[in-house]
This record gives sequence, C-alpha cells and structure tokens, in this order.
Amino acid sequence: MSTATNLPAQSTPSAALPPELADRLKGTELPDPLGFGRLMAPVMAIAYYRDGAWETPRLTGLDPLDLAPHTQALHYGQAIFEGMKAYRNLGPSFPGSNTLLFRPYEHARRFNRSALRLGMPEIDESLFVGALEQLVGTLDTLVPDRHGQSLYLRPTMFGATADLSVVPSTEFCFLILATPSDAFFTAPISAWIERHYSRAGAGGTGCVKAAGNYAASFAAAAPLREHGFQQLLWLDAVNHTHLEEFTAMNVFVRWGDKLVTPPLSDTILAGITRDSLLQLAKPFGLAMEERQIEIEALLDAIRSGEDIELFGCGTGAVVAPVELLGDESGLRLKLPSQSTAADLRRRLLDIQHGIDPAPDDWQWPVITSPNGSDS
Ligand code: PLP
Ligand code: COI
Repeated sequence: MSTATNLPAQSTPSAALPPELADRLKGTELPDPLGFGRLMAPVMAIAYYRDGAWETPRLTGLDPLDLAPHTQALHYGQAIFEGMKAYRNLGPSFPGSNTLLFRPYEHARRFNRSALRLGMPEIDESLFVGALEQLVGTLDTLVPDRHGQSLYLRPTMFGATADLSVVPSTEFCFLILATPSDAFFTAPISAWIERHYSRAGAGGTGCVKAAGNYAASFAAAAPLREHGFQQLLWLDAVNHTHLEEFTAMNVFVRWGDKLVTPPLSDTILAGITRDSLLQLAKPFGLAMEERQIEIEALLDAIRSGEDIELFGCGTGAVVAPVELLGDESGLRLKLPSQSTAADLRRRLLDIQHGIDPAPDDWQWPVITSPNGSDS
C-alpha cells in the first residue's frame, strides 16, 4: 500500500528570492478592506522531513502540492497548525526593524507540543523562527501599516506518507503561509452556548492545535450560523456546566474587579494571548483568578445586572468583547459595553506594534530582506 516516498526531490535553499517569485510579490497589492485571510501571500516557506531529519526551510510559490490521494493526513488527520502574527513596528523600541513577530518562540514550543501529541517529529525552534524571519522579511510590502492589522502567519505540519495503514507517517511537510489581515473580529461579537456537542475530552487533543479539533466544531456551528451568531462557547464535556473556551479563543470574564478565566487543562488550549493578558492585567487594578466558571451562575449574574464583561482572546481575534449570548433554548442575553476588554485590546496591540515596551522575549524584530519587496 505504501509508496517509497510521497515527497518531491530535495532542493537547496537559496538566499535570493527567485525572480519569478519576486515578480509575483511585486504584482500583489493589499485588498481594501483587508478582512481576514482574503489575500494569501504568493510566497510561502516549505520544508520536508525525510530519513529522520528536517530539511532547512526554503521559500517557494503558493502553488498546489503534489500529493498522493492516500496521503496519511487526508485519511487520519495527522495535521497541526499555529496561528501567529507579525506587526508593523510603529514605535521607537526597535529602530532598524520594520516588523515585529509576537512571541515566536512560544508559538514554536506549542507547535512542538502539538507535534508530539499527534506522533509527529518536533522541529528545532530556531529552524521554525528562522523560517518565519525569512518569510516575513521577504513579505515586507504585505505587512499592513494600520494599528490592529498584521501579517497573519500559519505554520502547518502534516503527515505526508502515502500509506493507508493506521500508523504514523514517516514523512512530513512543514509549511508557513501568510495572509495580511485585520483582526478576526473588528466589532463586539455574539456567542452561542453549545449545550450538546463537546470540543475536547480529558486525555484528548483539546490542549493542542490539532486540525481535527476545528473540523469537529463545524457541525455544531451550523445552528450558530443559522441564528446569525459568530462563535461557539464550549462547556466542559462531562457535565456541560462550566465554561471551557470559544472555538478559536480563550474565554475571560471581568467580574467586578476580578479577571476570571478557566484554569488550563488537557481540554483547553494554552493561549499565548491568554497568557499575555494575565501578565498585562495587573496595572489595570484587576485581581486575577484562574477558576471554573459555572455557566448558569454567570447567566444569573448578568441577568441581575452585576458588573460583568465577557470576552474572548486569541491571536486572530486579539480581544473580542461578547455583546450577545444565545443558545438552542431561545436564550438571548445582551451584555453591557466592555471598557476593560477595549483597554486590554489597546494595551496588547500597542505592545505588539512596538509602541509600548514589552516584557522580555515577547518581541522579535525582523529585518527586511533585500531580495524581498524592497528591491
Ligand atoms: N483556543 C483555541 C481553541 C484556539 O484555536 C486559539 C487560537 O489560536 C486560542 C484559544 C487562542 O490561542 P492564542 O492566543 O495562542 O492564539
Ligand atoms: C488564531 O487565532 O490564530 C487561530 O489559530 C484560530 C484559528 C482557527 C483562526
């Protein structure tokens, strides 16, 4: 059933962008409005894992991949990804650098945790970050200048062996795609409390970015779209009584002067934005609490007019206030306006754009490549 190799022949990475790719890049303009994922950058980074080792990633065109129909990832879902961003440097802290990657080593470490959970090889953190630097440095003209916009980056790895046996691949493909984007949501959102399906079970893959986690949410999302809602709010898989997270964001509640979020577990993704907000919230005079949040207690408190904000956070979304909660029973509950969420969002973006200083290691300045868009 298996074939010797499903991978193209190895090619040598070159320092200069081939003229054909430089031309593609020159012919690419930012769309208006930018949206999220509307324009894919015409250049991506690629590396294959073969004979037990990763090649050095190289830049190539965003072209179709030549894969056998029995490629493992298509059948058994051995696929993971990261979502991360490069922001235009709008501040004084990093002179000489046009663009700042946000916490790239945190993303590299999470990518490797995802890889291990799905039986895939880790990739050296400096190879991962080096490929990001090379790609982002080349794509400088596709990094939008406006505060809140960014070059969204999508590192991906999938099992590339052509083999229908239910065993892990031995060959893998690593890609980094890029898309200039607005934040996922640019206005307060509506969230649908999912009472029936579960996102993640104990011991499963909920705490990593397995591609299948997202596919498993699509059927649950059908009623959400039918009712015009934007994100699913998932409850725990055992009793459906406690908040876990949104489909693409961690969840926070500001409850009076406390900032509350569920503790990390094997059913919740350890969001890098979540971690950043927990570190940034102190000067806002908020006490941090990582504890279980019971959905009915939260709904009762909102109904009785307690001082509450509910918001999601994630790389794509930054910080997204929730203005309406709904569910299949007909619940429609409006939430008051969200000043803390807006303040945290601005604070985080100011750091991401280099306007405010960041804690150590959060910012990774990228130097524009001379063979990229500047030439
Ligand atoms: N939870 C899920 C399920 C996600 O897909 C994401 C997005 O990546 C997050 C939380 C937020 O994680 P991060 O802040 O690292 O982007
Ligand atoms: C991100 O926020 O970057 C994510 O990876 C979520 C994604 C499903 C859009």
